[in-house]
Amino acid sequence: MTVRHFLKDTDLTPAEQAEVLDLAVRLKAAPYSAQPLAGEGSARKTVAVIFDKTSTRTRVSFATGISDLGGAPLIINPGEAQIGHKESVEDTAKVLERMVAAIVWRTGAHQGLVDMAANSRVPVVNALCDDYHPCQLLADLLTVREHKGELAGLSLAYVGDAANNMANSYLLAGVTAGMHVRVAGPDGYLPAAEIVAEAEKVAAETGGSVLVTTDASAALAGADVVATDTWVSMGQESEKAARLTLFRDYSVDAAAMAKAAPDAVFLHCLPAYRGYEVSADVIDGPQSIVWDEAENRLHAQKALLAWLLHRSGQAVVDGLG
Ligand code: CP
Ligand code: NVA
Repeated sequence: MTVRHFLKDTDLTPAEQAEVLDLAVRLKAAPYSAQPLAGEGSARKTVAVIFDKTSTRTRVSFATGISDLGGAPLIINPGEAQIGHKESVEDTAKVLERMVAAIVWRTGAHQGLVDMAANSRVPVVNALCDDYHPCQLLADLLTVREHKGELAGLSLAYVGDAANNMANSYLLAGVTAGMHVRVAGPDGYLPAAEIVAEAEKVAAETGGSVLVTTDASAALAGADVVATDTWVSMGQESEKAARLTLFRDYSVDAAAMAKAAPDAVFLHCLPAYRGYEVSADVIDGPQSIVWDEAENRLHAQKALLAWLLHRSGQAVVDGLG
């Protein structure tokens, strides 16, 4: 059986994404009902969770989720491993896969994850890279599903730095779920052509659609879901001053929310910078579902790990067939 990895949003087909989200609902209701990481007797399988960049949610949700699934998390913080500076990704993968049940990695270049997966017989999961944040999107979709019911047919507007990992993942995961994804940012800060092309291809299969624009109002008009993210992603700190000016007209404030549907919900992957990409009255207001979104990292990633192990033939999760 081929090992399954999750390196970008479209590594799950529409049917597979729905299956993972269904499992997440199940595990949220019964947190210890799947134990794919339990070993023989009281033994626990280890999952390596490696951070080249800092984290709060991803670290805590994977550590908690791996324990919930019967396993033991091995958290490797930035600077603690030789990977990338003293030892190649390929050699690291060949060592890790002999010891752990899965490898979760937050890094910079997406190619590193591709190289890790190519050398690993255990599932590799992208816990954020410069180009994608696919685990976050599983949590976001689960949260929207909880608040809105079906995902297919909903419109989602992402406004802000439209060239970052979250924008790309909203496009790819959103259309996989059959959503109409509209992404707005300033000229030069829009998704790369190949991401848009891939999103359009998936949208053609699912009935979703893609709009990429510099006009925030066009993206927001009547949207069911409004999302944004920091204007300064990890690794872009030296550009901070320029970025705070560049994205000024793409802030999600009350006036922006008023352009969306009256019952629109607001998403932000966090950490958030109030007064910049989102105003305090929006993120702390009644339309915000960001705390559910943060919690759902746990449930969505547990489902993802269980699903990957099951589909890779490395565990059996009841109900997945
Ligand atoms: N949203 C998110 O990934 O948060 P952390 O950077 O805290 O993990
Ligand atoms: N775009 C942000 C997301 C943080 C979770 C970053 O990459 O820093």
